Amino acid sequence: MRALNYINGNWQAAESERTFERRDPAHRGQVVAVAPRSGDRDAHRAVASARAAFDGWRKLSRIRRAEHLDAFAQLVKANADDLARLVSTESGKPINEARADVVEGIHTAQYWAGRARMPSGEVYASEIAEKDAYMLRKPKGVVVAISPWNFPFAIPLWLTCPSLVEGNTAVFKPAEETPLTGQRIVEYFEKAGLPAGVLNLVHGYGEEAGWPLVTHRETDVVLFTGSYEVGSKIRQHCAAEPHKMAACEMGGKNAMIVFDDGNLDLAVHAAILSAFKTSGQRCVSASRLLVQRGILREFQARFVDLARRLVIGDPLQETTFMGPLVTEQAVEKVRRYNALAKEEGARVLLDDTASPSGGEVANGNYVSPFIYEMEHRPAARVLREEVFGPHVAIIPFGAVEDAIRIYNDADYAFSLAVITEDYRKVRRVREECEFGVGYVNLPTIGAEVHLPFGGLRKSGTGMPSASTLIDVVTHRVAWTVNHATEIKMAQGLSAQVA
Ligand code: UN1
Repeated sequence: MRALNYINGNWQAAESERTFERRDPAHRGQVVAVAPRSGDRDAHRAVASARAAFDGWRKLSRIRRAEHLDAFAQLVKANADDLARLVSTESGKPINEARADVVEGIHTAQYWAGRARMPSGEVYASEIAEKDAYMLRKPKGVVVAISPWNFPFAIPLWLTCPSLVEGNTAVFKPAEETPLTGQRIVEYFEKAGLPAGVLNLVHGYGEEAGWPLVTHRETDVVLFTGSYEVGSKIRQHCAAEPHKMAACEMGGKNAMIVFDDGNLDLAVHAAILSAFKTSGQRCVSASRLLVQRGILREFQARFVDLARRLVIGDPLQETTFMGPLVTEQAVEKVRRYNALAKEEGARVLLDDTASPSGGEVANGNYVSPFIYEMEHRPAARVLREEVFGPHVAIIPFGAVEDAIRIYNDADYAFSLAVITEDYRKVRRVREECEFGVGYVNLPTIGAEVHLPFGGLRKSGTGMPSASTLIDVVTHRVAWTVNHATEIKMAQGLSAQVA
């Protein structure tokens, strides 16, 4: 299937006519998409188109703009099954996860369509009785949204829906692993009647197509979800441009803390979902399981036993728990980290030697869970670096303060889960650990669109995505109106002139 760019309402190839291929991660011989390999000139045209559409779009009422999102949500709902199959084929995510990705995208469009009728600013008091004071929001201008392959449907909508409702126009670059899913999103927006230029689509590689979008003078906001390395380059560029702002969601080295008073069935279940859903390829996947020594042996035995029985195979089969990884390079990276764990002294509890089952799997990017026990050491690279695969460490701890210290000894701070029946431990973990998304007696995954979503340190910029992205894509202005015919100043400042 052929993907195209969408600039100013026209579907088009890259100016250079160059293309790239995306292969099916479950059957590497098969090409799923051929997409434009865009460069500077395509990026510049897309930003110029978004800039030209900005004035007309921002002048529409917020509610009128949001009607396009409502129409989009209805179209997607009617085609959700086809979309889920496409997401699964292109990304390698099991079909059930692909469906949830589509549903999360629908929820996002519905949420912002409804929120358009809710207050967008605030009314404040003034020291002066005759003054009314407000916080109002204004759109920033052109938003560039660069999204990852692991939520190829939901994340582009997290980024573009609030941008568009608030009156910005946008250029969207989907991950090069999932061009067709990106394409479908824009096709449905076109069918939903979005005016030309309001949402533009540029396919291609980060350095060739993404970077010229980020560095274009007319770009006002960059929304990026992906690796720390790329996110930090984007932030550095934007910091040097007075009008530009970047909000980045990056990696994680997330942890679940299991206390020995916790419900063990629930703990094992939550740990499996945290570590192995999407084969560990979520920015909120847990790769560190901090387990209190009293239950260490029993937890390990049950966790490994369940991990051994997970069905790995064809992502389109309903019974599959883990599909293939996204690319061959991802498989190599995971294997390198599995080997590194052994070099760094891991006690391996389950090696990555299980073979996939079900369907035709010989040519897929499959890996199986790799589980090890390791005492915490600040210098151990496998306990610090993001692997983005089914690679998980069980780290023993003694007292509550040890768990908190080990948890916080990390460069990333995204999601955290705590398993306990003791509300005092819950509170200490919440207050003393650094994280952006926290869960009690749940896995580290499972965010919903009406909540903030983001992390700190190398995980994020402290400007969370999802519902709170509104603060990134709008200027908040103070607006004060005097109803008297004379001027009275706050702070007792004299208004006397002569
Ligand atoms: C991501 O991990 O990249 O919270 C996004 C979740 C999903 C979104 C995850 N709703 O697991």
